[in-house]
Amino acid sequence: MTTPTIELKPSAHPLAAAEREAILASPGFGRHFTDHMVTIKWTEGRGWHDGQLVPYAPIPLDPATNVLHYAQEIFEGLKAYRRPDGSVATFRPDQNAKRFQRSARRLAMPELPVETFIEACDLLVQQDKEWVPAHGGEESLYLRPFMIATEVGLGVKPANEYLFLVIASPAGAYFPGGVKPVSIWASEDRVRAVPGGMGDAKTGGNYAASLLAQAEAAAQGCDQVCYLDAVEHKWVEELGGMNLYFVYGDKIVTPTLTGSILEGVTRDSLLTVARDLGYESEEARVSIEQWQRDSENGTLTEVFACGTAAVITPVGTVKRTNAEWQQSGGEPGEVTLRLREALLDIQRGTVEDKHGWMHRL
Ligand code: COI
Repeated sequence: MTTPTIELKPSAHPLAAAEREAILASPGFGRHFTDHMVTIKWTEGRGWHDGQLVPYAPIPLDPATNVLHYAQEIFEGLKAYRRPDGSVATFRPDQNAKRFQRSARRLAMPELPVETFIEACDLLVQQDKEWVPAHGGEESLYLRPFMIATEVGLGVKPANEYLFLVIASPAGAYFPGGVKPVSIWASEDRVRAVPGGMGDAKTGGNYAASLLAQAEAAAQGCDQVCYLDAVEHKWVEELGGMNLYFVYGDKIVTPTLTGSILEGVTRDSLLTVARDLGYESEEARVSIEQWQRDSENGTLTEVFACGTAAVITPVGTVKRTNAEWQQSGGEPGEVTLRLREALLDIQRGTVEDKHGWMHRL
């Protein structure tokens, strides 16, 4: 694998400080982008080349560019946080880099070296560090590395050219309600991914496939759709873009990775953070029947969603065909909030980083 150098070609006209500050005061999610982006090309026979940090700008694409037709695309999401001393750090970028490689393998794309992925993210954050929101709040700088097939042509085959990019967007809470519990529609017919499919790859197609089910969830008055497995339509898998955790008193349980569930970095981190706080944590299969029964008999005390964008978001109302119930009286649960604060404390740099998860810039 070639490790390309990334040439710095910064913008002569970054956004004026006053305009940037106005955006940072209320960034929303994924609506505003920083002054720069990183691009690196890959060509068959040559490998990775022409790494550049350039002003953020549209990328011209021929209408026959492969990705526009056959969706050979993968992406990642990670965040940079402002620390109490004003410096900046990203959370477990090596995990995103490795998952990006796994996604690339599944989509028959070239693997970007882990160190190049991290360097590209570091250079962009360093260049646009004024865009990292102030320490202490909910806000952070969301990084979106992605790769597309850029060969021009309509043949269905792995492309012979690719473009890797990193863009950055200041981000507040993913859900407009912040830590207000979200409502879930458990879809018993639509599925997100099948065994042997690409559910464990972070690729746009999985998110496109979720949109209709998400619209059906909205028609049911719910914020998010929850998918069950594709074979038995019984086992809880994940939400449209987040993993799930079930809280049984002092134990937290997340669905076992089956190949059709995305291996979330937040999901993985919480297995450890929970143990650090004295809870038990485990991966296990959880059925929709068990979810309903244990909520109704009171043994399942809380449920929450987790992901880089969503951090930890409590689940309130749950609806399925012919049934509806409330988790923790529709309020954020105590364990959910404790885990949320513990994770955010590590990410914001206000507690000891005993697992070495923060990557200082
Ligand atoms: C993330 O949490 O980073 C995601 O990718 C979820 C979503 C915004 C697509």
